[in-house]
Amino acid sequence: MAVVSEKAISQKEEVVDKKLVRMSLYYAFVWLLVGMLGGVLTSIKFNYPDFLGYIPWLAFGRLRVFHLNGVAFGWFTTAAFGMAYYMVPKLTGIKMVWPKVSYVVVYSWAVVSTIGQISLLAGYSQGVEVGEWPVWVDVPVSMIFALITTQIFFTIANRKEKHIYVSLWYLTAGFTWSTINYVLGNLINPYFFAGVDNAAIQGFYLHSVVGLWITPMGTAMLYYFMPVITKNPVYSHKLSMIGFWGLALFYPFTGAHHYLFSPIDTWVQTIAIMSSMMLIMPVWSVITNQVGTMKGKWHMLSSHIEVKFMVLGAVFYVITCFQGPTQALRSMQQIIHFTDWVVGHAHLAIYGVFTMWTWAGIYYIWPKLTGRQIYSQKLSGWHFWLSLVGFAIMALTLWGAGLVQGGMLNLESNVAFIDTVKAISPFWAVRTVGGTLMMLGAACFVYNMYMTAKVGRLVDEDFVSNRQEVLV
Ligand code: HEM
Repeated sequence: MAVVSEKAISQKEEVVDKKLVRMSLYYAFVWLLVGMLGGVLTSIKFNYPDFLGYIPWLAFGRLRVFHLNGVAFGWFTTAAFGMAYYMVPKLTGIKMVWPKVSYVVVYSWAVVSTIGQISLLAGYSQGVEVGEWPVWVDVPVSMIFALITTQIFFTIANRKEKHIYVSLWYLTAGFTWSTINYVLGNLINPYFFAGVDNAAIQGFYLHSVVGLWITPMGTAMLYYFMPVITKNPVYSHKLSMIGFWGLALFYPFTGAHHYLFSPIDTWVQTIAIMSSMMLIMPVWSVITNQVGTMKGKWHMLSSHIEVKFMVLGAVFYVITCFQGPTQALRSMQQIIHFTDWVVGHAHLAIYGVFTMWTWAGIYYIWPKLTGRQIYSQKLSGWHFWLSLVGFAIMALTLWGAGLVQGGMLNLESNVAFIDTVKAISPFWAVRTVGGTLMMLGAACFVYNMYMTAKVGRLVDEDFVSNRQEVLV
């Protein structure tokens, strides 16, 4: 079991470039809010298609992809970059190599992703799901991913810590897979493959954004923050490795579960279904480890906002990973394929699990980055409850709408598609209410972080010594 020494901890306190991490997170906050606003506006258009008039920049098709790319790349990916620049130095015991490159990455990512988002509103997008940014954005994005990945590898190569902690496994793998995946999905597949081959690779790309980028980044954060927050050792390092290799082995084959009943070869679809089932293994390893690591620390749930978000994210992870494999089955897909059920599932994973874990990490490190204690516990509470209640409303209505629509189309005769649309439109209205609450929750969070940095109470010695990061 690796225990990081007190001396190493004090060295570690200095290895993080706090300004860099702060900058990255501030930019992520902007996209959290703007991206979610995009979601709320899109959702209103489901009930009121004329909402916002006929301005092309605000047409449904543009706003929808603006929302999706805004939260997946603008919010989550930017936050993941910031978190990587926090965790990698801590875990290696040295500063990032080539410190200027870190600024090139953060600044150029900000410029390029903003151009990507504006391009979408201006109507320039390519037909790649979760890869809609046009090709002139994809080239620099691929270069930025390659650059930060190389920087992380060289930092690890020069590390002072002998042990490679599990978060580093997830971080290095996530960055490497995603560099390759981004190039494959955005620069190779659209131009060199057609028809069924193109669809199969698109399925691989799309699901790998979730499984080989968002999941490893989120899991790296969980494995990093869980022991430092609870001050308990990770329950089982062996289990964490089983989870890591399970993810690496099974995730790449799951993509075709998005295209069941399509002309893609049946055996490819069957392998995708089986691999989806096998994902239960890495997920349960993460959850078992989390529950084991929380042993004796459950009381922190009532007093620590970061623990609340960590545990809530874990609960949603259990649901996601029960829902994911079962909805990959052909019998279930017959009902829910192409319905709102899938949209509910997508939010469960990216919002319910990985956004919650990211918030947990940010609540923990923000006082370290700013030298100030969290400005308002009340606002943190509002953030938590608005997010939980808002998301519960959104998820339940989307799943309900999916079952109603799927049920009508599959189990009733003579049902026109438009009848299903009329039947589920009340669900959409309620979804907008849930989404608005979620956005208000996020606004409380961003305002709280901003005020913390401006006027939060300065951290004292007790606070600092309580937050020593010892990874065991
Ligand atoms: C950080 C928060 C959020 C994340 C990570 C997120 C993520 C996603 C993802 C991954 C999709 C694609 C779903 C699919 O194609 O299956 C999506 C679509 C969508 N989201 Fe969000 N979302 C967030 C917040 C919101 C909010 C607050 C709303 C407000 C109601 C919202 C409304 C929508 C709508 C309307 C769509 C399009 C659904 C469709 O095409 O049927 N999202 N979002």
